[in-house]
Amino acid sequence: MHKLLVILVLCLFPLASFSAGPAVKGETVDWSFNGPFGKFNKSSLQRGLQVYTEVCSSCHSLKYIAYRNLSDLGYNKSEIKAFASNFTVTDGPNDDGEMFERPGMPADHFVSPYPNMNAARAANGGAYPPDLSLITKARGGGADYLYSLLIGYKKPPENLDVREGLYYNKYYSGNLIAMPQPLYGDDVTYADGTKASIEQMASDVTEFLAWAAEPEMEVRKRTGIAAITFLLIMAVLSYLAKQQIWANVKKKQI
Ligand code: HEC
Repeated sequence: MHKLLVILVLCLFPLASFSAGPAVKGETVDWSFNGPFGKFNKSSLQRGLQVYTEVCSSCHSLKYIAYRNLSDLGYNKSEIKAFASNFTVTDGPNDDGEMFERPGMPADHFVSPYPNMNAARAANGGAYPPDLSLITKARGGGADYLYSLLIGYKKPPENLDVREGLYYNKYYSGNLIAMPQPLYGDDVTYADGTKASIEQMASDVTEFLAWAAEPEMEVRKRTGIAAITFLLIMAVLSYLAKQQIWANVKKKQI
Protein backbone atom coordinates (compact mmCIF):
# COMPACT_ATOMS: atom_id res chain seq x y z
CA MET A 1 0.00 0.00 0.00
CA HIS A 2 2.81 2.39 0.99
CA LYS A 3 4.72 1.59 -2.16
CA LEU A 4 1.65 2.39 -4.21
CA LEU A 5 1.33 5.79 -2.52
CA VAL A 6 4.98 6.61 -3.18
CA ILE A 7 4.60 5.68 -6.85
CA LEU A 8 1.47 7.85 -7.13
CA VAL A 9 3.19 10.88 -5.59
CA LEU A 10 6.21 10.40 -7.86
CA CYS A 11 3.92 10.27 -10.89
CA LEU A 12 2.08 13.45 -9.90
CA PHE A 13 5.26 15.40 -9.12
CA PRO A 14 6.26 16.25 -12.71
CA LEU A 15 2.65 17.21 -13.47
CA ALA A 16 2.72 19.79 -10.69
CA SER A 17 5.95 21.37 -11.93
CA PHE A 18 4.77 21.51 -15.56
CA SER A 19 1.49 23.16 -14.68
CA ALA A 20 3.20 26.20 -13.15
CA GLY A 21 1.84 28.98 -15.38
CA PRO A 22 3.14 32.46 -16.22
CA ALA A 23 3.85 34.92 -13.42
CA VAL A 24 0.75 37.02 -14.11
CA LYS A 25 -2.34 35.04 -14.96
CA GLY A 26 -4.23 36.49 -17.92
CA GLU A 27 -7.95 36.92 -18.48
CA THR A 28 -10.04 33.80 -18.92
CA VAL A 29 -12.57 34.13 -21.72
CA ASP A 30 -15.52 31.84 -22.35
CA TRP A 31 -14.75 31.30 -26.07
CA SER A 32 -17.45 29.93 -28.37
CA PHE A 33 -14.90 27.37 -29.58
CA ASN A 34 -14.11 25.95 -26.12
CA GLY A 35 -15.23 22.45 -25.11
CA PRO A 36 -16.06 19.32 -27.11
CA PHE A 37 -19.09 20.93 -28.81
CA GLY A 38 -17.40 24.33 -29.37
CA LYS A 39 -17.75 26.09 -32.74
CA PHE A 40 -16.29 29.26 -34.22
CA ASN A 41 -18.61 32.26 -34.35
CA LYS A 42 -18.66 33.29 -38.04
CA SER A 43 -19.51 36.97 -37.48
CA SER A 44 -16.69 37.25 -34.95
CA LEU A 45 -14.30 35.54 -37.42
CA GLN A 46 -15.26 38.04 -40.12
CA ARG A 47 -14.73 40.99 -37.77
CA GLY A 48 -11.41 39.43 -36.67
CA LEU A 49 -10.28 39.21 -40.29
CA GLN A 50 -11.05 42.92 -40.61
CA VAL A 51 -8.95 43.74 -37.50
CA TYR A 52 -6.05 41.57 -38.71
CA THR A 53 -6.17 43.13 -42.19
CA GLU A 54 -6.51 46.75 -41.07
CA VAL A 55 -4.25 46.68 -37.99
CA CYS A 56 -1.98 43.65 -37.47
CA SER A 57 -1.09 42.90 -41.11
CA SER A 58 1.07 46.01 -41.37
CA CYS A 59 3.64 44.21 -39.18
CA HIS A 60 2.64 40.52 -38.93
CA SER A 61 2.42 37.90 -41.68
CA LEU A 62 -0.13 35.05 -41.76
CA LYS A 63 1.68 32.92 -44.27
CA TYR A 64 0.07 29.52 -43.71
CA ILE A 65 -3.42 30.75 -44.60
CA ALA A 66 -4.54 31.12 -48.23
CA TYR A 67 -7.28 33.54 -49.30
CA ARG A 68 -9.41 30.60 -50.43
CA ASN A 69 -9.46 29.30 -46.81
CA LEU A 70 -11.71 32.29 -46.04
CA SER A 71 -14.65 30.21 -47.28
CA ASP A 72 -14.70 28.82 -43.68
CA LEU A 73 -15.68 32.32 -42.54
CA GLY A 74 -18.80 32.23 -44.70
CA TYR A 75 -17.52 34.10 -47.77
CA ASN A 76 -18.40 32.91 -51.27
CA LYS A 77 -16.03 32.48 -54.22
CA SER A 78 -16.55 35.92 -55.75
CA GLU A 79 -16.18 37.68 -52.39
CA ILE A 80 -12.88 35.84 -51.81
CA LYS A 81 -11.69 36.69 -55.34
CA ALA A 82 -12.46 40.37 -54.76
CA PHE A 83 -10.75 40.32 -51.34
CA ALA A 84 -7.59 38.63 -52.70
CA SER A 85 -7.34 41.10 -55.58
CA ASN A 86 -6.82 43.96 -53.06
CA PHE A 87 -3.30 42.64 -52.42
CA THR A 88 -0.22 42.75 -54.64
CA VAL A 89 1.68 39.47 -55.04
CA THR A 90 5.24 39.16 -56.35
CA ASP A 91 5.29 36.27 -58.83
CA GLY A 92 7.67 34.92 -61.41
CA PRO A 93 10.13 34.61 -62.88
CA ASN A 94 8.48 35.33 -66.27
CA ASP A 95 9.89 34.29 -69.66
CA ASP A 96 12.54 37.06 -69.39
CA GLY A 97 13.62 35.78 -65.99
CA GLU A 98 12.14 38.80 -64.22
CA MET A 99 9.93 38.78 -61.13
CA PHE A 100 6.70 40.67 -61.65
CA GLU A 101 3.76 41.92 -59.60
CA ARG A 102 0.11 40.96 -60.04
CA PRO A 103 -3.11 41.19 -58.02
CA GLY A 104 -3.69 38.39 -55.49
CA MET A 105 -5.76 35.29 -56.35
CA PRO A 106 -7.74 32.95 -54.05
CA ALA A 107 -4.96 30.31 -54.21
CA ASP A 108 -2.30 32.77 -52.93
CA HIS A 109 -1.28 32.75 -49.31
CA PHE A 110 -1.78 35.94 -47.27
CA VAL A 111 0.74 38.51 -48.46
CA SER A 112 3.48 39.24 -45.90
CA PRO A 113 4.22 42.86 -44.95
CA TYR A 114 8.00 42.41 -45.29
CA PRO A 115 10.03 40.55 -47.95
CA ASN A 116 12.20 38.77 -45.31
CA MET A 117 13.00 38.50 -41.59
CA ASN A 118 15.80 41.08 -41.69
CA ALA A 119 13.55 43.67 -43.28
CA ALA A 120 10.92 42.94 -40.59
CA ARG A 121 13.49 43.40 -37.82
CA ALA A 122 14.92 46.55 -39.39
CA ALA A 123 11.47 48.15 -39.49
CA ASN A 124 10.68 47.23 -35.87
CA GLY A 125 13.76 48.41 -33.98
CA GLY A 126 15.40 44.98 -34.11
CA ALA A 127 12.39 43.00 -32.80
CA TYR A 128 10.78 40.40 -35.04
CA PRO A 129 6.98 40.46 -35.29
CA PRO A 130 6.22 36.70 -35.40
CA ASP A 131 4.00 35.11 -38.05
CA LEU A 132 0.51 34.86 -36.53
CA SER A 133 -0.72 31.69 -38.33
CA LEU A 134 -0.04 29.43 -35.33
CA ILE A 135 0.30 31.97 -32.55
CA THR A 136 -2.58 30.63 -30.39
CA LYS A 137 -0.83 27.23 -30.39
CA ALA A 138 2.66 28.65 -29.96
CA ARG A 139 2.15 30.41 -26.63
CA GLY A 140 1.14 28.96 -23.26
CA GLY A 141 -2.37 30.14 -22.45
CA GLY A 142 -3.36 30.10 -26.17
CA ALA A 143 -6.33 32.29 -27.05
CA ASP A 144 -6.68 33.64 -23.48
CA TYR A 145 -3.04 34.80 -23.56
CA LEU A 146 -3.42 36.52 -26.93
CA TYR A 147 -6.56 38.34 -25.78
CA SER A 148 -4.88 39.37 -22.51
CA LEU A 149 -1.77 40.61 -24.34
CA LEU A 150 -3.87 42.84 -26.61
CA ILE A 151 -5.72 44.47 -23.71
CA GLY A 152 -2.70 44.35 -21.37
CA TYR A 153 -1.08 47.73 -22.22
CA LYS A 154 -1.24 49.71 -18.96
CA LYS A 155 0.59 52.60 -17.37
CA PRO A 156 3.99 51.25 -16.15
CA PRO A 157 4.71 51.30 -12.40
CA GLU A 158 6.46 54.55 -11.33
CA ASN A 159 9.79 52.90 -10.45
CA LEU A 160 10.11 51.01 -13.76
CA ASP A 161 12.47 52.40 -16.38
CA VAL A 162 10.93 51.72 -19.80
CA ARG A 163 13.59 52.03 -22.50
CA GLU A 164 12.70 53.72 -25.78
CA GLY A 165 11.18 51.24 -28.24
CA LEU A 166 9.72 49.09 -25.44
CA TYR A 167 6.21 49.23 -24.02
CA TYR A 168 4.79 48.09 -20.70
CA ASN A 169 2.36 45.19 -20.92
CA LYS A 170 0.87 43.59 -17.83
CA TYR A 171 0.64 40.11 -19.37
CA TYR A 172 3.85 39.90 -21.42
CA SER A 173 6.58 37.80 -19.84
CA GLY A 174 9.03 40.34 -18.40
CA ASN A 175 6.40 43.08 -18.98
CA LEU A 176 8.41 44.98 -21.62
CA ILE A 177 7.42 44.26 -25.21
CA ALA A 178 8.72 45.78 -28.45
CA MET A 179 5.23 45.84 -30.00
CA PRO A 180 3.56 49.24 -29.61
CA GLN A 181 -0.04 49.06 -28.36
CA PRO A 182 -1.93 47.98 -31.51
CA LEU A 183 -5.54 48.53 -30.38
CA TYR A 184 -6.97 51.67 -28.79
CA GLY A 185 -10.67 51.39 -29.62
CA ASP A 186 -12.42 52.44 -32.85
CA ASP A 187 -9.35 51.41 -34.89
CA VAL A 188 -11.71 49.81 -37.42
CA THR A 189 -15.29 50.51 -38.47
CA TYR A 190 -17.03 47.17 -38.39
CA ALA A 191 -19.08 46.38 -41.48
CA ASP A 192 -21.83 44.85 -39.28
CA GLY A 193 -22.11 47.94 -37.04
CA THR A 194 -20.66 46.28 -33.89
CA LYS A 195 -19.01 48.83 -31.60
CA ALA A 196 -15.23 48.53 -31.98
CA SER A 197 -14.10 48.68 -28.34
CA ILE A 198 -10.62 47.39 -27.46
CA GLU A 199 -12.10 44.26 -25.84
CA GLN A 200 -14.37 43.59 -28.85
CA MET A 201 -11.53 43.92 -31.38
CA ALA A 202 -9.15 41.89 -29.19
CA SER A 203 -11.66 39.07 -28.85
CA ASP A 204 -12.58 39.10 -32.57
CA VAL A 205 -8.98 39.02 -33.78
CA THR A 206 -8.21 36.29 -31.23
CA GLU A 207 -11.15 34.19 -32.49
CA PHE A 208 -9.87 34.74 -36.06
CA LEU A 209 -6.30 33.71 -35.15
CA ALA A 210 -7.58 30.67 -33.20
CA TRP A 211 -9.34 29.62 -36.43
CA ALA A 212 -6.17 30.30 -38.46
CA ALA A 213 -4.20 28.03 -36.12
CA GLU A 214 -6.70 25.20 -36.43
CA PRO A 215 -9.13 25.63 -39.33
CA GLU A 216 -10.09 21.93 -39.07
CA MET A 217 -11.14 22.21 -35.39
CA GLU A 218 -14.89 21.80 -36.02
CA VAL A 219 -14.36 18.69 -38.17
CA ARG A 220 -11.96 17.27 -35.56
CA LYS A 221 -14.54 17.75 -32.78
CA ARG A 222 -17.39 16.32 -34.88
CA THR A 223 -15.27 13.25 -35.71
CA GLY A 224 -14.38 12.80 -32.05
CA ILE A 225 -18.02 12.90 -30.96
CA ALA A 226 -19.04 10.48 -33.73
CA ALA A 227 -16.23 8.10 -32.71
CA ILE A 228 -17.17 8.20 -29.00
CA THR A 229 -20.88 7.66 -29.80
CA PHE A 230 -19.95 4.69 -32.00
CA LEU A 231 -17.76 3.20 -29.26
CA LEU A 232 -20.53 3.63 -26.67
CA ILE A 233 -23.07 1.88 -28.89
CA MET A 234 -20.53 -0.89 -29.60
CA ALA A 235 -19.88 -1.28 -25.86
CA VAL A 236 -23.61 -1.77 -25.14
CA LEU A 237 -23.99 -4.19 -28.06
CA SER A 238 -20.92 -6.19 -26.97
CA TYR A 239 -22.27 -6.44 -23.43
CA LEU A 240 -25.67 -7.65 -24.64
CA ALA A 241 -24.02 -10.13 -27.03
CA LYS A 242 -21.83 -11.48 -24.22
CA GLN A 243 -24.89 -11.99 -21.97
CA GLN A 244 -26.65 -13.82 -24.78
CA ILE A 245 -23.68 -16.06 -25.66
CA TRP A 246 -22.90 -17.10 -22.06
CA ALA A 247 -26.51 -17.41 -20.91
CA ASN A 248 -26.71 -21.21 -21.51
CA VAL A 249 -23.30 -21.95 -20.00
CA LYS A 250 -24.22 -20.18 -16.77
CA LYS A 251 -27.54 -22.05 -16.52
CA LYS A 252 -25.76 -25.43 -16.94
CA GLN A 253 -23.34 -24.65 -14.08
CA ILE A 254 -26.26 -24.16 -11.68
C1 HEC B 1 3.74 48.35 -35.54
C2 HEC B 1 3.93 46.95 -35.77
C3 HEC B 1 2.98 45.97 -35.08
C4 HEC B 1 1.60 45.91 -35.17
C5 HEC B 1 0.66 46.86 -35.90
C6 HEC B 1 1.20 44.74 -34.43
N1 HEC B 1 2.32 44.11 -33.91
FE1 HEC B 1 2.34 42.40 -32.80
N2 HEC B 1 4.36 42.52 -32.60
C7 HEC B 1 5.16 43.50 -33.18
C8 HEC B 1 6.52 43.27 -32.77
C9 HEC B 1 7.72 44.12 -33.18
C10 HEC B 1 6.52 42.13 -31.94
C11 HEC B 1 7.73 41.47 -31.23
C12 HEC B 1 7.74 41.95 -29.80
C13 HEC B 1 8.93 41.55 -28.99
O1 HEC B 1 9.66 40.64 -29.40
O2 HEC B 1 9.13 42.16 -27.91
C14 HEC B 1 5.14 41.68 -31.86
C15 HEC B 1 4.73 40.57 -31.15
C16 HEC B 1 3.44 40.08 -31.16
C17 HEC B 1 3.02 38.86 -30.52
C18 HEC B 1 3.91 37.87 -29.78
C19 HEC B 1 3.94 38.15 -28.31
C20 HEC B 1 4.72 37.10 -27.55
O3 HEC B 1 4.19 36.52 -26.60
O4 HEC B 1 5.86 36.82 -27.96
C21 HEC B 1 1.69 38.70 -30.77
C22 HEC B 1 0.79 37.56 -30.32
C23 HEC B 1 1.26 39.85 -31.55
N3 HEC B 1 2.35 40.67 -31.76
C24 HEC B 1 -0.03 40.04 -31.99
C25 HEC B 1 -0.45 41.16 -32.69
C26 HEC B 1 -1.84 41.38 -33.11
C27 HEC B 1 -2.99 40.41 -32.88
C28 HEC B 1 -1.86 42.58 -33.72
C29 HEC B 1 -3.07 43.29 -34.30
C30 HEC B 1 -4.15 43.57 -33.40
C31 HEC B 1 -0.50 43.12 -33.72
N4 HEC B 1 0.33 42.22 -33.08
C32 HEC B 1 -0.11 44.31 -34.29
C33 HEC B 1 4.74 44.53 -34.00
C34 HEC B 1 3.41 44.82 -34.30
